[in-house]
Amino acid sequence: MKRIAVLTSGGDAQGMNAAIRGVVEQGLHHGMEVYGVTGGFKGLVEGDFRLLTVSECQDKLKRGGTFLYSARFPEFSQETYQLQAIEQMKDHEIEALIVIGGDGSFTGALKLTEHGFPAVGIPGTIDNDIPGTEYTIGFDTAVNVALDEIDKITDTAASHNRTFVVEVMGRHAGDIATWAGVAAGADAIIIPEVPFKMEDVAKRVQTGRKFGKDHSLIILAEGVMSVDSFVEVYRAISHDTSVRGVTLAHVQRGGNPSARDRVFATLMGARAVDLLIEGQSGVYLGVNGEQLKTYDIVETLKEKSHQVRRDLYQLNLDLTNKKSQ
Ligand code: ADP
Ligand code: F6P
Repeated sequence: MKRIAVLTSGGDAQGMNAAIRGVVEQGLHHGMEVYGVTGGFKGLVEGDFRLLTVSECQDKLKRGGTFLYSARFPEFSQETYQLQAIEQMKDHEIEALIVIGGDGSFTGALKLTEHGFPAVGIPGTIDNDIPGTEYTIGFDTAVNVALDEIDKITDTAASHNRTFVVEVMGRHAGDIATWAGVAAGADAIIIPEVPFKMEDVAKRVQTGRKFGKDHSLIILAEGVMSVDSFVEVYRAISHDTSVRGVTLAHVQRGGNPSARDRVFATLMGARAVDLLIEGQSGVYLGVNGEQLKTYDIVETLKEKSHQVRRDLYQLNLDLTNKKSQ
């Protein structure tokens, strides 16, 4: 294999650049040329390729975002676009593709595999919501960014003895909410995976106050409901007029990637190149027990669903349900 390509797709995630760097330098280590595709599957269809260099990777490694740009291109589910993308790669003598993104992007990679073109995936999404793997690139940084913001909010919350509801990202998954909530000592964590009763949330907040807390914190995953709707119902049920709502939104997708995100991104970037050399295709990388693991796209996406860490969620429930002084 002499020439491969790499693209980033779906929502960006901190550490995608480190993964690209891993691909490029491992490719060079094996004597290959690595081409970058601009703007995900759209760029692939349009043949928007350029040879990637060590110097640009070195520069971007420490930055959030993706220097290859990302795009949502739903048209790629149509076969004509998939075949066009393969034609473009063949015209440029590109023999295989690495796709950095979420499970939607992996489905795009799988389509290429089904048409006989080798492609493998690297999990990049702050939501941590890919089946099989315990970790996705960007999740660690996103949690830490969220935690930084939450810590600032609780400074002012304490000064005014207020309750804050902080909405964090996670369209279908409560991972950011659960990790940031446990780390920040939240009174309640509300996630899409577990139903909740507002009366129970209000009781936990009251218990915290009874035990001496000078402010209260509720972490809400965006997939449950909007922070405004939550605050409205919470206020009506709890009669807590101090409550304020904050949405952290895209700030969680920014900032320099953490060491953990850079290290696993680099490991997976390099391993993805090795997988292609070994002749693997239709698979993606992940992390299990701190070790890299390879997952079959078809089997894993069909048979497994992503699981939030229930033990952490339960820990928060236990810690906020105090029985004795
Ligand atoms: P993520 O990869 O983070 O899950 P999306 O679901 O938005 O994000 O998918 C990213 C891109 O992957 C889409 O814009 C599209 O180009 C491609 N893609 C998603 N689903 C499919 C599909 N079923 N077939 C082919 N390509 C797909
Ligand atoms: O996929 C990550 C994510 O950050 C989700 O948590 C969020 O719902 C979504 O992307 C927002 O994406 P965008 O605003 O880019 O469409």
